[in-house]
Amino acid sequence: MISRNTIDKVFETARVEEVIGDYVNLKKAGSNFKGLSPFSDEKSPSFMVSPVKQIWKDFSSGKGGNAISFIMEQEHYSYPEAIRYLAKKYNIEIEETEQSDEQKEQASERESMYLVSEYARDYYHDILLNNQKGKAIGLSYFKERGFTDETIKKFELGYGLDEWTAFTDTALKKGYDVKYLEQTGLTIVNETKRFDRFKGRVLFPIHSMSGRVLGFGGRILTNEKKAAKYLNSPESDIYHKSKVLYGIYHAKQSIAKEDNCFLVEGYTDVISFHQNGIENVVASSGTALTPDQIRLIRRLTPNITILFDGDAAGIRASLRGIDLILEQGMNVKVLTFPDGDDPDSFSKRVSTDELKEYLDKNAQDFINFKVSLLMEDAQHDPVKKAGLIRDIVVSISKIPDRIQKEVYIQECARIMKISENVLFSELAQIFKKEQRDTSKKPTHQMQPVAPVLQKTQAVEEVNELLKYEREVIKVLLLHGNKKVDFTEIIEEDNVQKKETYNSLVSREIYLNLQDDEIEFTNELFRQVYFDIINQLNQNQEINIDIFINHTDNLVATLVTNILMNDEEHTLSNWTRREIHVKHNTDQIISKATTDSILNLRRILIKEKIEALKTEISSDKNNDILEIVVDYTGLNSLISKELSRVI
Ligand code: CTP
Ligand code: MN
Repeated sequence: MISRNTIDKVFETARVEEVIGDYVNLKKAGSNFKGLSPFSDEKSPSFMVSPVKQIWKDFSSGKGGNAISFIMEQEHYSYPEAIRYLAKKYNIEIEETEQSDEQKEQASERESMYLVSEYARDYYHDILLNNQKGKAIGLSYFKERGFTDETIKKFELGYGLDEWTAFTDTALKKGYDVKYLEQTGLTIVNETKRFDRFKGRVLFPIHSMSGRVLGFGGRILTNEKKAAKYLNSPESDIYHKSKVLYGIYHAKQSIAKEDNCFLVEGYTDVISFHQNGIENVVASSGTALTPDQIRLIRRLTPNITILFDGDAAGIRASLRGIDLILEQGMNVKVLTFPDGDDPDSFSKRVSTDELKEYLDKNAQDFINFKVSLLMEDAQHDPVKKAGLIRDIVVSISKIPDRIQKEVYIQECARIMKISENVLFSELAQIFKKEQRDTSKKPTHQMQPVAPVLQKTQAVEEVNELLKYEREVIKVLLLHGNKKVDFTEIIEEDNVQKKETYNSLVSREIYLNLQDDEIEFTNELFRQVYFDIINQLNQNQEINIDIFINHTDNLVATLVTNILMNDEEHTLSNWTRREIHVKHNTDQIISKATTDSILNLRRILIKEKIEALKTEISSDKNNDILEIVVDYTGLNSLISKELSRVI
């Protein structure tokens, strides 16, 4: 178990904006930062980070919390995994408390898989650099390909000896469990034998966005036709090929800074580009980009440049996949290399400046590229040309931005020498067809933010009650520790007098709710309220951090939502609201406090009246009627008080 001391140190050190900044391109927005939600497909930023409050809020998915909960969401880590990750990021040494065997067994499976993968990376890297055969075979191969020592270290390249169990034996001796060696695919286990997957191959560790080792790509060194050139780690709980981009960890800073991402095919392309000074590059590992991979890039930049090897047939085959990138609202450029060259070989032939200039000069807009390329095929073939037009318009139809779409239509009409109208009507047809198709399918859209409620009287009342219960919690969290003036109207000898007294907001709320014997109907509110009162009794103060960092996710989310004003959906409202908060005066806080109490009281009285009304008809003495009249009078007093302006 991680010691309390370490956990506290992580909480003290981790800055939410730095932690999230590793994943999301954050831009300053007033006193906050904003960026694209890493949890959804949004096109305009609604992901907010408050460095002052040390919390984040994703308005598109409704999630929110602190630095730890972000890492838990993002990496699908458990709580201790997230603490370990942050401890590593901030160089905090992890103190372990004594573990029982049982606890050891319970230590997360995934964490064990990460640990064994990291061990393998170190082991193979060490073999490459220090083992006799490793140096003679693996290192000399990389040197032959022109990789420098620096590059080899940066990418933690490795070599697996050409022996059946060299790695597995060493790992077992070190105490790693064969279960995790098998689950990560590092060791292949069958009934009778265990042996190394990456025997006799040079290895490329594959990292997550945050730098953890997920798996490996292993290249064979011989030209043997029978064996596959590359052997990769199998899919596992930590390695999902479709969600990973090779190089993303080493590229993320540069992608954000350059506001563009180069996409290449393979490991060696990525590495050669780095060595030649271009770091904003990732590889899809030989396949078309998946939506998950596109999303990974889109967190960092909306611009992508796809680099093709010279081979024309390959390019044609890739065109369709690019529509998927357009669909996600990204700006796509493409670039080809001279025949026979791939990014790896080309970047080795030229200087850094030459490479940069080549990339700069030759990047073409995707749609234009596609039109020109296909026009070559279809020039003298009207039937082909008709098919081509449809093909292009399908691509254009994927672009979410209306104006951009229109510009492309005009541009294509020009290149293809046909009228814009033809293209526009084709576009209209595609949309009609799509609408027909989607109306047939059930939609898997995002879940509505609020549960869909039936509009009955009762439900509305419950909602109103919840709204004001929440309001009370909100006032407590935001202002509970403040001391402000409250006024009270008292009657002495039939004379009404205003009396002012100074009190803690939390105390005022507590005493009032107690007087009225008000209990929260919502269980979550009840729990938070109970905790608040406990804190007050113990420390005379509310400590919000305890809620933000609460192990119960519901509590943490509720509190962050309240602190981040979740009813404000748009950015402008959000920042505007911030200004209000700044200008809060004692009077506003005082009124907010009394209002929250009065509102709650008003709803409860209303409920009581409704309940009593049903009994009136069976009441002979009109006692109940009298009570109802009293309550109604009280409620109009409350309403008057509520409408008072300061
Ligand atoms: N690839 C793979 N499995 C294969 C072949 C290819 O995973 N059997 C992926 C690898 O990520 C590889 C990329 O596709 O890097 C491109 O393939 P290729 O051009 O053949 O590999 P390079 O990395 O360019 O290797 P090299 O230059 O060493 O031949
Ligand atoms: Mn190659």
